[in-house]
Amino acid sequence: MRLSRLLLWTFVGGAGVHAAATLDELADDVSRVESLREIKDATATFAQLAQFGRYAEMADLFSPDGVLLWGNTSVQGPEAIRRWLEEDAGDMNGRGPGSLDTLVLATPLVNLGADGRTAKGRWNGWRFQGDGKGLTRMRGGVWENEYARVEEGGRWRMRVMRYYELYEGAYEGGWRNVGGRDFGLVPEFHYTAEEAGVPIPKGEVGGGDVVEGSNLERRIEDLNDEDEVRNLQHAWGYYVDRRLWGEVGELFGSHDWGVVRIDNVGVFEGPNGIREGLERWMGPEGLKQGVLNEHLIFDTVVKIRDEVDPDVPNAEKMADARGVEIGLIGDQEKGTALWRFSFFQNSFVKRNGIWQIHNVTIAPLVVANYSDGWGYGGVMAKSTVEPVFLDYTAKRRKKPDTAPKESLSELSRRLSRSYGYEGAESISNAYGFYIDFIDGAACSLMAAIHHPLANKESPFAGFYHTRQRVLEACTQAYGTSARLTRSGISFHWRPQPVIHVSQDGRSASLRARLLQPATDKTSSGTIRGGMYHDQMVLDENGSWKLWSVTIDEFYWSMNNWKEGWGGVEVRDKNAPDQPPPRDLVRQFPPDLWLNEMEGEREVGFMGGRERYVSWPEIQRMWFGYRNPVSGGVPKDGSYWPGCVPCYQHKPEWAMTKHGWQEPPTGPTLVRAMFAAGNGSSEWDDGTFITVWVTPGPGEVVEGVVKLTGRDVGLEYLLTEKDGGRVMFELPRNLSGGFHLLEATFLGSSRLNPGRDVIDLTLPGGPGSLLGN
Ligand SMILES: *[C@@H]1O[C@H](CO)[C@@H](O)[C@H](O)[C@H]1NC(C)=O
Ligand SMILES: *[C@@H]1O[C@H](CO)[C@@H](O)[C@H](O)[C@H]1NC(C)=O
Ligand SMILES: *[C@@H]1O[C@H](CO)[C@@H](O)[C@H](O)[C@H]1NC(C)=O
Ligand SMILES: *[C@@H]1O[C@H](CO)[C@@H](O)[C@H](O)[C@H]1NC(C)=O
Ligand SMILES: *[C@@H]1O[C@H](CO)[C@@H](O)[C@H](O)[C@H]1NC(C)=O
Ligand SMILES: *[C@@H]1O[C@H](CO)[C@@H](O)[C@H](O)[C@H]1NC(C)=O
Repeated sequence: MRLSRLLLWTFVGGAGVHAAATLDELADDVSRVESLREIKDATATFAQLAQFGRYAEMADLFSPDGVLLWGNTSVQGPEAIRRWLEEDAGDMNGRGPGSLDTLVLATPLVNLGADGRTAKGRWNGWRFQGDGKGLTRMRGGVWENEYARVEEGGRWRMRVMRYYELYEGAYEGGWRNVGGRDFGLVPEFHYTAEEAGVPIPKGEVGGGDVVEGSNLERRIEDLNDEDEVRNLQHAWGYYVDRRLWGEVGELFGSHDWGVVRIDNVGVFEGPNGIREGLERWMGPEGLKQGVLNEHLIFDTVVKIRDEVDPDVPNAEKMADARGVEIGLIGDQEKGTALWRFSFFQNSFVKRNGIWQIHNVTIAPLVVANYSDGWGYGGVMAKSTVEPVFLDYTAKRRKKPDTAPKESLSELSRRLSRSYGYEGAESISNAYGFYIDFIDGAACSLMAAIHHPLANKESPFAGFYHTRQRVLEACTQAYGTSARLTRSGISFHWRPQPVIHVSQDGRSASLRARLLQPATDKTSSGTIRGGMYHDQMVLDENGSWKLWSVTIDEFYWSMNNWKEGWGGVEVRDKNAPDQPPPRDLVRQFPPDLWLNEMEGEREVGFMGGRERYVSWPEIQRMWFGYRNPVSGGVPKDGSYWPGCVPCYQHKPEWAMTKHGWQEPPTGPTLVRAMFAAGNGSSEWDDGTFITVWVTPGPGEVVEGVVKLTGRDVGLEYLLTEKDGGRVMFELPRNLSGGFHLLEATFLGSSRLNPGRDVIDLTLPGGPGSLLGN
């Protein structure tokens, strides 16, 4: 259907989130968010297919006139692209014995065109290849791609894949700048600083062919579910990195149904089995000095299933996630270091409104000793898992049309939360892309993607408050003019985000890795890792902006390619606790110094308090969110929600002081329990259901709790004084026999909704509880 009304379309207006005025407008909004996701999924699938040398399917992701620009190569049309991909890979195609072709496209910043039919996207990427016979190749760079939806109702395809190859090299010797040259011009950004925060711009309603009005309620629900499944998948990865097997186990829910399959290692079932499997594959609980267990997750595609699998107990919905994993493993004290290139394909199930992991399959393709590299194919037997690729295009065409039950404004609100997920990811990656090419010009761009009242950490120094101060701190360090050349670059990838969007879709909290590949023209490259803890807001102009940026660095590092992460000396115990302050601290003092932040948050960080911890010592990992399934906080107390400086030190910098909602920190757990009387076993005192609503620490429960079922419809407004607990007395004339009751917390401006189901059998058979 094409509409030609010239209404200005946007998710936001002066007043905040866009509320669709008609179903057609809502349908248009839904299609555009789905489009953005499909573009990311198509690109991720391109990377996933490369692991198996499936170049024909990769070429099929291009439009008929599609162009591949790879370095100085230009090829047009799917068939020519297939041929080029095939030839370029040679035997490094992931097909032959020991062959490796792991491609990742990370950190997307995608902007849909106003027409709804075109898009542009920037990505960081790596490609690690080997032919199993000794030949290796590593490549890294930036993609600036163009996408188009060619046919009416058709799928999104790549029209231009434009790869700027920035560094390359064989495994032996590592990577360097391409051609051993200085970098000249920065690969062109397809967006302005303002557009970076507007993944879906203003457009006409019905512009292009994006209006597809069917089954909107379910499609919005699926988009919201997709956010939660993606968070769960990414959160799994951070617990795995720290070998927090207790936390990992909780992601499967409190029952015996979980399965972990590690190819060529075993199939492990139930809580004890899963722990055993994880320990066997990755080692015992926790990290001790020198242990690296990084499992970088890339190119995650999530698909919500249309139907649940009838064999899966209590399944409300199911989903699958698939992606690429690169493991940086080792134990420095034992002198071991390994690369592990894998793929994963996992299933998820929603129970009582909370997504849990159903099963995990990890399939290692090449596992190689660091000192040997992967050229000869590594040390692991060939994978036996059949790769299954997810049909991400199915989102828009499923289910017969059903009229929405919820109001238009409620549906718009729910959709705006998924749009917020996209906005947060875009602005997070925009930050990384600007910082990569930092100089005076990039300082202005970097500052411009902050809200005027934002705060941002300058590493090893402290936090600057307000956009103006962020800009001045940057130019203090990097000057005000653009650099025409640079001999090396430290990239700031922000992959694997876990994003919590507020209930009104206008703010978000984000954790992402800092993954820092570095390249230089004369020496071999290195990689380092850290962590970002950020918040973002939607500003009055409809653009997502950074509100708070915290950088915890570094967790692990390399001194040079040859020795890798295993070759870093332990820091001298007699060295000073902290180095002298950065020049920046003296020349342009921060508004909050790291070393003045009382309490534990900055203990152990360089520039922070007490002795700084340096790889191969183990840096403490902070979490801004709770366990996405159990709702628990990290057992060692490393929980620090929201804006890092705001939580204890600068509460006046918090977004809640300026009209935004604090995003949730995880699930709201609801537990309903049956109690006869007030704890006594006497029936004649009435029959009570007690409902507990449990949020995160320090979060107040305010909102409506409902208890519903056959002949039961009770409701209570919880306020702060209730402490998250309400006792419902069941109607005294309730019939005997089996009852299924649902306790629902409807949520609040801070808390996610939650629910529980309780069944009970009342005495007396048919007839009154009191037996008359
Ligand atoms: C293309 O790039 C390669 C590698 O950088 C270089 O060797 C080759 O000379 C270039 N070809 C052209 C036509 O510029
Ligand atoms: C995971 O669950 C899905 C859905 O029930 C099933 O099809 C698949 O075989 C399971 N995989 C493993 C490894 O158990
Ligand atoms: C890895 O290589 C090193 C150095 O060649 C060697 O000492 C070590 O035994 C190798 N480890 C494995 C697991 O093959
Ligand atoms: C919104 O746009 C106006 C006009 O360009 C500008 O003056 C204002 O600062 C912007 N607001 C924010 C929060 O950046
Ligand atoms: C609890 O129930 C018992 C038995 O019905 C009654 O004697 C007692 O007063 C009740 N206590 C409260 C606090 O309501
Ligand atoms: C129980 O009593 C209430 C009010 O007295 C009445 O509305 C309801 O219909 C009755 N329910 C049953 C199952 O008899």
